[in-house]
Amino acid sequence: MIMESCNIKTWIQSLIYIILIASSLHLLHTLLIINPNLTVNHQNATIKKVAPLPMRFRSDGTFKILQVADMHYGNGKMTRCRDVLDSEFNYCSDLNTTLFLQKMIQLENPDFIAFTGDNIFGSSATDAAESLFKAFDPVLKAGIPWAAVLGNHDQESTMTREELMSFISLMDYSISQTFPSDEDFPNSNKQNSVPKIDGFGNYNLKVWGAPGSNLANSSVLNLYFLDSGDRAVVNGVRTYGWIKESQLDWLRRVSQKVQVTK
Ligand SMILES: *[C@@H]1O[C@H](CO)[C@@H](O)[C@H](O)[C@H]1NC(C)=O
Ligand SMILES: *[C@@H]1O[C@H](CO)[C@@H](O)[C@H](O)[C@H]1NC(C)=O
Ligand SMILES: *[C@@H]1O[C@H](CO)[C@@H](O)[C@H](O)[C@H]1NC(C)=O
Repeated sequence: MIMESCNIKTWIQSLIYIILIASSLHLLHTLLIINPNLTVNHQNATIKKVAPLPMRFRSDGTFKILQVADMHYGNGKMTRCRDVLDSEFNYCSDLNTTLFLQKMIQLENPDFIAFTGDNIFGSSATDAAESLFKAFDPVLKAGIPWAAVLGNHDQESTMTREELMSFISLMDYSISQTFPSDEDFPNSNKQNSVPKIDGFGNYNLKVWGAPGSNLANSSVLNLYFLDSGDRAVVNGVRTYGWIKESQLDWLRRVSQKVQVTK
C-alpha cells in the first residue's frame, strides 16, 4: 500500500511538472512569435537616427554651440532638485532641467550641443540607460547633432564608463565616440585597432566651412573631447581623475596633423 501511494504521488508530481513546462513554452511562444509588437519594438530600438553630417558653419559665418554641463539627471519627476529654496523644493524636479534645456534649444537654435559631464547622477539614477534617455530627451527630439563626455557621477549608477560611452554613441543624432576615429590616429598601425589611450570618450569632431564658400570642403574647426576620468586616490588622498599623458600625446599628434595638412 505504501509503495503504491508513493508511486501515485510521484506520477502526479511528474504530470504537474509536464504541464508547467508545456505552459511555459506556450507563454514563451506567445511572447516571442505571436505578439508582433515585441519584435517590431526590438527592430525599432536598434535603428539609430543619424545626424546630418558634416557639421558646417552657416552662410553668415557663424556656428553656435550650446554647452550643457552637470544636469545631474536622476529618475525624472521622482528626483527633487538640490540647492533650491525650501519654498521651491516641492515644485522642482529633474523635469525642470528638461524644461530649461527645451527652452534653451528653442531660443538659441544651436548648430551643435556639447554635454560636458555629470549628465546623470549615479546615486539618484536607478537605471543608467533610462536616466540617459530622459536627460538627453530634448536633444533627441530636436534632432540636432550632439556629443557628450562623462563626469565622475555618470558612472556611479549601473554602467561602467565604457558602457556609458558606447550607449551614448548609439543614441539618436549623437556623434559621440568611445574611442578616436582611425583617421585621427596618426602613425598608428591598423593591426592594433584598440587605441592605447586612457579613458572612454576621447575624440575629435570637425566642423566644415560654410556651404558655397572656398572652405566648403575642408574642416575649419576641430572640437576635441577628452575624458578627464572619475575619482582617484593619490598618496592616500581621495581626489578626482585627470587628463593623462597618453591623451595629451594623442591631442598633440592630431592637432599637429591638422596644422600640416592645412
Ligand atoms: C516602429 O517603427 C514604425 C516605423 O517608424 C512605427 O510605425 C511603429 O509605430 C514603431 N513601433 C513602436 C512599437 O514604436
Ligand atoms: C519647476 O517647474 C514647475 C512647473 O513648471 C514650476 O512651477 C517651478 O516653479 C519650477 N521650479 C523652479 C525652482 O524653477
Ligand atoms: C567642393 O566639392 C564640391 C563637390 O565635389 C565641388 O562642386 C565644389 O566646387 C568644391 N568647392 C570647393 C571650394 O572646393
